[in-house]
Amino acid sequence: MKRSSVFILSFLCCLLLKPNLVFSEDKQLVGVFGASGRTGTHIIDELIRRDVNIRAFSRRTKENADTDSLNWVVADVTNKESLAEALKNVDVIISAIGPVDGDNSENVDYLGAINIVSAAKESGVQQIIYMSSIGAGGAENISTVMLNLLANKTMKWKALAEEQIRNSGIAFTIVRPGGLLGEPATQGIQFSQGDNVLGWIPREDVAAVLVESIFKDGAKNKTFEVINDDSLPVDAWRDEFDSLKPNEFGVIATGELPTRYWLSPLLVIIAIIYLIRRKRARS
Ligand SMILES: NC(=O)c1ccc[n+]([C@@H]2O[C@H](COP(=O)([O-])OP(=O)(O)OC[C@H]3O[C@@H](n4cnc5c(N)ncnc54)[C@H](OP(=O)(O)O)[C@@H]3O)[C@@H](O)[C@H]2O)c1
Repeated sequence: MKRSSVFILSFLCCLLLKPNLVFSEDKQLVGVFGASGRTGTHIIDELIRRDVNIRAFSRRTKENADTDSLNWVVADVTNKESLAEALKNVDVIISAIGPVDGDNSENVDYLGAINIVSAAKESGVQQIIYMSSIGAGGAENISTVMLNLLANKTMKWKALAEEQIRNSGIAFTIVRPGGLLGEPATQGIQFSQGDNVLGWIPREDVAAVLVESIFKDGAKNKTFEVINDDSLPVDAWRDEFDSLKPNEFGVIATGELPTRYWLSPLLVIIAIIYLIRRKRARS
């Protein structure tokens, strides 16, 4: 067989077996961690509507998932070695991972972020867009304190994962959604900073914000909260990125019990003991 025929045959095999090898090079390649998840599925749907190539990551294979612009790749964020190859040529990472099947936040969110950042640096990734949670920057909030006390310090590990990404040297966007809903998108989305709000938001809306962050320069190096607000004009949020401040991320929830949560009860107990003793001494 002629050398040219061999080349054409090999090229055709590549087309059939490895769609990522023939991704158009002038399009951005977006790697999505958590692609199989409830938010991740919306992220993929949203990305398919945009002019990008997609590498969808999951720990499981998926039959017939690959298309001209999407490549399904097995990767585990707790396994550093699986990430280096997975992130080859990736321009932008979107992460919507979270612990499932009894796994914990330290393992998936925190160690996962360390591994993602390390592999992203090696691969020359340009931007990391990270789905965190309202409360990660609200160390003093009662909801954050309760989640840290009752749910394996979830907020601590999310907050420390955020820190890994903010300090990575790679452009980042950290989106902190309120309580997640499985309802359809509303597109009435409120942005805020400082982690002082509480609220709910459909996962589909969160996915829209995460994907839009690829295309908005104003989203770079910002950390912000998103909740649903039906009173806001639909899609108005798309013009809000520029007004976000770069160094505003609230008070990182390190997992330590904030002073006011133990100091006031302690002073009350000391006062009660003092009053009881004084009463006894008098009688
Ligand atoms: N529940 C809430 O109200 C709320 C509020 C704010 C923020 N959040 C956070 O939002 C995030 C997304 O939530 P969701 O409900 O959309 O998630 P989900 O449906 O539970 O999906 C979690 C995803 O994480 C992936 N994953 C888990 N361990 C992994 C690992 N070791 N390596 C690679 N991928 C891994 C899973 O993929 P495979 O299993 O296919 O590998 C799955 O796609 C979570 O971090 C959650 O904590 C939740």
